[in-house]
Amino acid sequence: MVYGLSTMVYGLSPYLCAMEQLLAQIDQYKKEIKESIANTKEEVEEFRIKYLGSKGLVKTIMGEMKNVAVAQKKEAGQLLNDFKIFVEERFDELKGGSQPNATTKAAAIDLSLPGTSEAMGTRHPISIVQNKIISIFSRLGFAVAEGPEIEDDWHNFSALNLPENHPARDMQDTFYISTNPDWLLRTHTSSVQIREMQKGRLPLRIICPGRVYRNETISARAHCFFNQVEGLYIAENVSFADLKQTLYFFVQEMFGTAVKVRFRPSYFPFTEPSAEMDISCLICGGTGCNVCKKTGWVEILGCGMVHPKVLENCGIDSNKYTGFAFGMGIERITMLSYQVKDLRLFSENDTRFLNQFVSVT
Ligand code: DAH
Repeated sequence: MVYGLSTMVYGLSPYLCAMEQLLAQIDQYKKEIKESIANTKEEVEEFRIKYLGSKGLVKTIMGEMKNVAVAQKKEAGQLLNDFKIFVEERFDELKGGSQPNATTKAAAIDLSLPGTSEAMGTRHPISIVQNKIISIFSRLGFAVAEGPEIEDDWHNFSALNLPENHPARDMQDTFYISTNPDWLLRTHTSSVQIREMQKGRLPLRIICPGRVYRNETISARAHCFFNQVEGLYIAENVSFADLKQTLYFFVQEMFGTAVKVRFRPSYFPFTEPSAEMDISCLICGGTGCNVCKKTGWVEILGCGMVHPKVLENCGIDSNKYTGFAFGMGIERITMLSYQVKDLRLFSENDTRFLNQFVSVT
């Protein structure tokens, strides 16, 4: 028994000559045929006779062509031909044991073809390098600390020994929040040092990665926002030698053991003494090139012993505790690591650039 066959299959209406009616009828038949089930050989044969046999539906409908107006004959012919192919395909499906809803398209899926792979994202180079820096310092016991990007003047400047009108404030061009002149976008991650020291949990050994902002003209070497990692170690009897050894370790882990290091005296209001640390140029190996401006050295960070006034500003006894601090730009380290020549590439979101950086971290 063939299920779902309409009793109207035979004896088509004489009005069929109207195209709309022909369309409507065919749609109706198609639905029935699609839903028809034939489980046994006999039922498949019944389907064939009913639809494709010499007195079947397809033949009958084809016979109706003579009633179609001449102007519509071509269109109707195409329609009926498509219908015939549809019935034949359904017949083939039933013969092959396919049940309703298993459309021709689904049956045509070739399971031996390779699948379509999902496009994988890649980590941003700044994140890759930031994670590497965190991992190196965490092996020395440094924990990660974070602070707000919108800071107040005290945490960003005053507590770090930059009193109002101090000329050192000119070193950093600041974005102020227009609704409150006491608020600003932090110019460095040194503000996080202050927040952590205020908590009074000593000894303290932290690194603070994060985004900072400065009112600078955007160029290949400068941007109005970039990323820093600050380091801070406060305990009893911390010395400059501890600072040097920590930074040596960092450089060796980050750039390899062949890289040389040197410290130059410098000035920061929040450290005394202060220094800047250079590494031998990774491009020319120290012989002199454009990247190191023919000096053989590139500066990578500022550092020093935390100024006693800064400790006192945070309620720490500077007679009992000493500490060192350092701060570096992540973009700088990334540019050196991957030989990227333009800082703007990091914030342009061009996937042709970003896709080149692959890392598991
Ligand atoms: N805050 C400095 C800057 O943004 C970097 C720095 C220098 C941080 C010396 C320090 C330090 O902790 O001791 O340029």
